[in-house]
Amino acid sequence: MKKITFRPPRPTDFEALYRYAKTIEAEDTFITLSPDEPLTKKAEREHFQTDLKKIKQNNKVITCVFDGKKMIGSCGVERQGRRSRHLGEIGIALLKEYRSEGLGKKLFSYTLKQARKKLKLTTAILQCMAENKVALAFYKKMGFKQYGRLPKANRYKGRLIAAIYFYQHLK
Ligand SMILES: CC(C)(COP(=O)(O)OP(=O)(O)OC[C@H]1O[C@@H](n2cnc3c(N)ncnc32)[C@H](O)[C@@H]1OP(=O)(O)O)[C@@H](O)C(=O)NCCC(=O)NCCS
Repeated sequence: MKKITFRPPRPTDFEALYRYAKTIEAEDTFITLSPDEPLTKKAEREHFQTDLKKIKQNNKVITCVFDGKKMIGSCGVERQGRRSRHLGEIGIALLKEYRSEGLGKKLFSYTLKQARKKLKLTTAILQCMAENKVALAFYKKMGFKQYGRLPKANRYKGRLIAAIYFYQHLK
């Protein structure tokens, strides 16, 4: 580990972001990115442009984590629609070699604070695959409460596994 920094994405971050996304996609861990449906550079660029717009419109906050110039993680909260505009869905991931060292806790708390401050959200929601033991322990540690379970919600390595739903009212 060199020098870890947190900041929102800039338009010039695309190449670093793409390398990070492809690394975590290849790992085939418990996130939506999967080597079964590889990201194309074009699709990822479009997704990135859309995210930058959402940030400008106050509908999303994203924290990118860098180790020197290398992007090693991210956490984002996206505003939900219409009658649920006060809710935001959060997602988080770090590259494998940066996990279980306390960085996830700092990144998650920082990004939730940004969501409260900038987007004025009052509740965060998220979903997690039922076999992702580390993330389940992580969310509980961060004070999230489970409110549901949908069997067979995610295809993972050829099997269908449940999704667990969590929420937290933000202070
Ligand atoms: C989930 C994730 C963001 C957590 O970040 P992290 O930096 O690994 O977690 P931290 O080191 O800050 O630990 C915070 C808590 O998480 C849990 N945790 C972290 N690593 C753990 C491990 N190896 N085994 C069990 N629990 C663990 C513990 O409850 C820990 O609290 P403690 O340190 O007081 O025991 C990270 O592991 C990750 O990126 N995983 C892969 C992607 C992913 O699964 N994202 C979530 C998709 S729903």
